[in-house]
Amino acid sequence: TLRRGLLTVYFVLCVCPGAGFLPFSAFLTDNFGRRHSYLRISLTEKCNLRCQYCMPEEGVKLTPRSQLLSTSEVLTVAQLFVREGVEKIRLTGGEPLIRPDVLDIITELRKLEGLKTIAVTTNGMNLARLLPKLKEAGLDLLNISLDTLVPAKFEFIVRRKGFHKVMEGIDKAIEMGYNPVKVNCVVMRGLNEDELLDFVALTEKKPLEVRFIEYMPFDGNKWNFKKMVSYQEMLDRIRQQWPSLEQLPLGKTDTAKTFKVPGFQGQVGFITSMSDQFCGSCNRLRITADGNLKVCLFGNTEVSLRDVLRSGASDQELLDIIGAAVGRKKKQHAGMFSISQMKNRPMILIGG
Ligand SMILES: C[S@@+](CC[C@H](N)C(=O)[O-])C[C@H]1O[C@@H](n2cnc3c(N)ncnc32)[C@H](O)[C@@H]1O
Ligand code: SF4
Repeated sequence: TLRRGLLTVYFVLCVCPGAGFLPFSAFLTDNFGRRHSYLRISLTEKCNLRCQYCMPEEGVKLTPRSQLLSTSEVLTVAQLFVREGVEKIRLTGGEPLIRPDVLDIITELRKLEGLKTIAVTTNGMNLARLLPKLKEAGLDLLNISLDTLVPAKFEFIVRRKGFHKVMEGIDKAIEMGYNPVKVNCVVMRGLNEDELLDFVALTEKKPLEVRFIEYMPFDGNKWNFKKMVSYQEMLDRIRQQWPSLEQLPLGKTDTAKTFKVPGFQGQVGFITSMSDQFCGSCNRLRITADGNLKVCLFGNTEVSLRDVLRSGASDQELLDIIGAAVGRKKKQHAGMFSISQMKNRPMILIGG
């Protein structure tokens, strides 16, 4: 009750830069003043690729369909969060574009007043085909995952064929006016760290933001410290080739540190979750495909919104449960070595 009272005071007094005094939900504000206005919803646990860093080779045990959030449950939850102040929703997975109702979900999300941005993170396999309809449905932002520019290596990393389809998806996204198209590249020593400069060179002629992601530990991905290439190491290597690389200003809740080679159309970013965590400005919450709310990517505490929804709970009861979970969010994650020892889901079952 005390917390709720304090949060209500905060709710009334909080200042949004550039917007004067604006209310923000007490339920989505944690004990460290972080306002969670960004929700990631995983639409499926299934995927048409098998990336080494995301899932174990033998696959993952899938949740029975009846226990996954239905279309209307996804929309009910989304609506509730948007009403409380969420402004951005990212659809992820598994591979979100293999869910048959993905276009319906985006169309319905687009109708939510207050929701400014709808984003999708995809492996790009079905993208070229679906893009016109995704755009028509109201998709604003695209992140496409690609870890190598060498077709044979692609097949090794993702354990499936499809390099050219992904490249086709990236080019089509540019052609359709998405700018910047973000390309997510997980950098792993001995696998693709030798391609850093090739990825940066790609931004010369294409309006891409290549985002180099530090390799993170999740269940079943055989993470070890030696395979991780740190932000600083990547930056040093790129600077050797392009000493004029300049850093761009960092937004309040940006997770990527972004840079640009002067004269290049695109830019590069670094997601430094391991070597330089950005928990202090974290504004994200996640909902897994089976309906669990996860307040931290690296935390294993979860609460089932699906069960609460299915018990016929009111919006207020749901909000109380969400507020309590947000209230338990830790100040920061436990550090990369502790995380690597900790039980968590494989990334494919979380939704990155
Ligand atoms: C889990 S995927 C889901 C969306 C879609 N299937 C895709 O690959 O873009 C979301 C993002 O998480 C990233 N990811 C997965 N496992 C990771 C790991 N161990 N470390 C860092 N990033 C990871 C992927 O590269 C991808 O960009
Ligand atoms: S990273 Fe994306 S594409 Fe790769 S296995 Fe995970 S969910 Fe699938």
